[in-house]
Amino acid sequence: MKKVGIIGWPVTHSISPAMHNAAYAALGLTDWQYELAPVPPDIVRQGLRTLRDEGGFIGVNVTVPLKEKVMPHVRPDERARAVGAVNTIDFRDNSGTNTDVIGFMDDLKAHGVEVQGQRVIVLGAGGAARAAVYGLARAGAQVTVVNRTPQKAQVMLADMMLSANIRSADVLTLDEAAEQGAVLVVNATSVGMWPKTEESPWITGVAWPAGAVAYDMVYRPHQTTFMRQAEQSGARVIGGLGMLVRQGAAAFKLWTGQDAPVEVMYAAAESALQTT
Ligand code: ATR
Repeated sequence: MKKVGIIGWPVTHSISPAMHNAAYAALGLTDWQYELAPVPPDIVRQGLRTLRDEGGFIGVNVTVPLKEKVMPHVRPDERARAVGAVNTIDFRDNSGTNTDVIGFMDDLKAHGVEVQGQRVIVLGAGGAARAAVYGLARAGAQVTVVNRTPQKAQVMLADMMLSANIRSADVLTLDEAAEQGAVLVVNATSVGMWPKTEESPWITGVAWPAGAVAYDMVYRPHQTTFMRQAEQSGARVIGGLGMLVRQGAAAFKLWTGQDAPVEVMYAAAESALQTT
C-alpha cells in the first residue's frame, strides 16, 4: 500500500480523506490510501518519525495546530518559509511545501480573476492571510492588508519582506482600503466560519469597492455572511471550497506524479462536507 494522510489535532472533521481517496479510485490508483493521522502538538517530531519509519507513509498533509510546528523537522521550500507554514510533506526527501498558496492562486485563475498590477484587499494576518499575501504579491498584485490587530499585519509584512522580499503590500484600516478601491477582497480571517456563521469581517456601513470580487477562504458554510453582504452590493462572490480542493490537488500531484482529477475531488469534498 502507498499511504499518505493528514496530521493535525484533532483531524476527525477533515474532508481530505474523502477527497483524495475518491481521486485514487477515479484514476485506478488502487494501491494508494489516504488516512487520518491524529498527532498531538507536543510530540510532532516523534509523530512524523513514526509515520515515516514505522507507518510507511509517503507523505502527509498538515493542518491546525501543526502547520508551523512541523517546520523545524522538514526542509521547507521558499514558499513555505515565506508563509511560515508547511501543509504538505514528502517523506521521500523530507521536503515541506505550502500548497495553500497554490490552491488559492489556482482557484482565482480557474475563476478568471486577474490580479497582476491590480489592487487587492486581504482581510486577516494569520496563516491563511500569509498564504494569500504571498501568492498575490508574487503574481504582481498591490496588496492592502486589513486586520483587527493592525500590529499583527505589520509584523506579517515585515517578516515576508525579509523571507521573500515582498514589498508590494501595506496595512490600512477597512474604510481606507475600501475607499482606495480593489478588484478583489479576500476574507482570510476565520470570521464567519461555522458555527458563528452570522459574523463577518466586513463592517456594515463601509461601502463595497465598486467592481471588486469577494473571495471567502471560509468554506463551511458554503454561503457566508461576508459573501451575502458582498452579493447585496452587486459583487461576484467565490467561496473557499475550490481553494481547499486545489490545495489537495497540488499535494496529489506532488505525491503521485499525476494530474489530479479536480472535478472528482470537488464532488467528493462537497458530499463529505454534508456528512462531517
Ligand atoms: P489562520 O491560520 O486560519 O489564518 P489565525 O492565525 O488564528 O488563523 O488567524 C486568524 C485571523 O482571523 C487573524 O487575522 C485574526 O485577527 P487578529 O490578528 O486581530 O487576532 C482574525 N480574527 C479572528 N477572529 C476575529 C474577529 N472576531 N474579528 C476580527 N478578526 C478576527
